[in-house]
Amino acid sequence: MTKEDYNKTARFYNQRYREIQFEKYKIMLASLALKGKILDHGCGTGLLSSFLKRDLIGIDNSVEMLNIRGSGDLADVEELPYGDAEFDYILSFSVLMNSKDPEKAIKEVKRVLKPSGAFVCTFLRDFESKLKPLLEKYLEIKEKRTCGEDIGFILIY
Ligand SMILES: C[S@@+](CC[C@H](N)C(=O)[O-])C[C@H]1O[C@@H](n2cnc3c(N)ncnc32)[C@H](O)[C@@H]1O
Repeated sequence: MTKEDYNKTARFYNQRYREIQFEKYKIMLASLALKGKILDHGCGTGLLSSFLKRDLIGIDNSVEMLNIRGSGDLADVEELPYGDAEFDYILSFSVLMNSKDPEKAIKEVKRVLKPSGAFVCTFLRDFESKLKPLLEKYLEIKEKRTCGEDIGFILIY
């Protein structure tokens, strides 16, 4: 979906997707002791912050999604407005499949992730053949998990 699509549908997002996204968070984050500086990558309306019951640094390119979240950095995942090696965890739920240049987005993840950090991402299963090789080009897959309509990966530097 495009930025325009998300801007148009932002006000319905939580009602439609809260349960579905919470299930993905549960599956992907179950065994992880999240600590340090965490980026909510394509944060949307902020469901992940609600689930974790904590503030997260969020970035998204849809102003309407961010308006519902109440805060966040308006930017593209292909050009993250952060310094090198800033984050311990980058959490990306149902985002990469929307990127026009996912390789650039993954390179940016690697740039802003600490070498000791981890990248957790999910995307619709249909995108696995396209996105998994790109992930593996830049990061090491530690785990792969099925979560509902998505496939999820935990990757390290
Ligand atoms: C399916 S929603 C997921 C939102 C959130 N991660 C969640 O779990 O509810 C995808 C989000 O990615 C954002 N997004 C898509 N492409 C993006 C891009 N190129 N740069 C920044 N954000 C993007 C959309 O605006 C939308 O908020």
